[in-house]
Amino acid sequence: MAINIKIRDNGPYVVEGEFTLTDAQGNPVEVKKAALCRCGGSTMKPFCDGTHSKIGFKGANEAVQEADPTTT
Ligand code: FES
Repeated sequence: MAINIKIRDNGPYVVEGEFTLTDAQGNPVEVKKAALCRCGGSTMKPFCDGTHSKIGFKGANEAVQEADPTTT
């Protein structure tokens, strides 16, 4: 099965499939599905803890559109 990484609007990267996640020392971390933080606010990095909603994180597309509404 291939790995699928889904970018959630204004949220984490959701990784599904067979993959290996290792910590900084190279030790494997057991996970079958992972939501990885991309807002930088999680207290459980690298995993998403929902903080993105509380801090109003906006994904790149939405942030660019707000900065310049003429972009699509
Ligand atoms: S993406 Fe969810 S806490 Fe950062």
